[in-house]
Amino acid sequence: MMVPSVKIHSENSAQGTNSKPNPMVRFALEKVTANSKFHLKHNPMIIDLGCGKLRHLKICRDFSDNIILVDTKEQIERKQKFGDTTATMAEYVKATQDGRVKIDIVETEAFTKKKYNADIVLNVAVMDVVPKKVRSSLVDATYNNLRANGYCILIIPRNDSSILINCRRENKYEDGHIFKNRGHNDFTFYTNFRDPSPLLRVLTHRGFKLIEDLSIYRQICLILQK
Ligand SMILES: C[S@@+](CC[C@H](N)C(=O)[O-])C[C@H]1O[C@@H](n2cnc3c(N)ncnc32)[C@H](O)[C@@H]1O
Repeated sequence: MMVPSVKIHSENSAQGTNSKPNPMVRFALEKVTANSKFHLKHNPMIIDLGCGKLRHLKICRDFSDNIILVDTKEQIERKQKFGDTTATMAEYVKATQDGRVKIDIVETEAFTKKKYNADIVLNVAVMDVVPKKVRSSLVDATYNNLRANGYCILIIPRNDSSILINCRRENKYEDGHIFKNRGHNDFTFYTNFRDPSPLLRVLTHRGFKLIEDLSIYRQICLILQK
């Protein structure tokens, strides 16, 4: 039975600031920046699309001094825990800024209308927690904000039995499931991309070329080029 339309709060899916980074993030960034076949200049502009609780900010800083953090208005504006600090994203970033790295924070709605000409858009653990319509709008926004020949690094965790245990027939929603998690009262969404080909079709239809597929059983990791 399909569950009727509900408001999904993907903000509550975000891993904590002190959670381990996704293992593919540094690996993929090293790959595209170190290998001359990617033709990336030193110090590329990186957009972290769906940056959440900034679990990957430190890694982005290691590769770039021009970073744009994008998330929903709700995620950007709310006071939340960043490690031991309770602050908004802007307050936390300001408090940790070292003057070397330029960091801008942009709400996703504004981002969809921008053209930043970035070298890399990093998209980690976002596509599995948002419904189809949002996924397509993020694909469009990524394309529009990359420079010609820029790269999208798309990382999607999958096949995690501790999450799959929440996915039953009763809570099916679109191509995934909805449930309450991390002690929150709102619904979050999750779809397990055992097979990424439907999403890959959306990306290639938009104009992306798949350059490398670094996926493993527990993580999809695709390097796509505009
Ligand atoms: C599971 S978290 C991942 C956060 C971060 N990328 C990480 O790996 O730690 C998913 C994030 O996507 C964000 N998100 C949901 N819808 C979004 C949208 N339309 N645009 C940008 N971010 C969005 C959520 O607010 C949340 O912060």
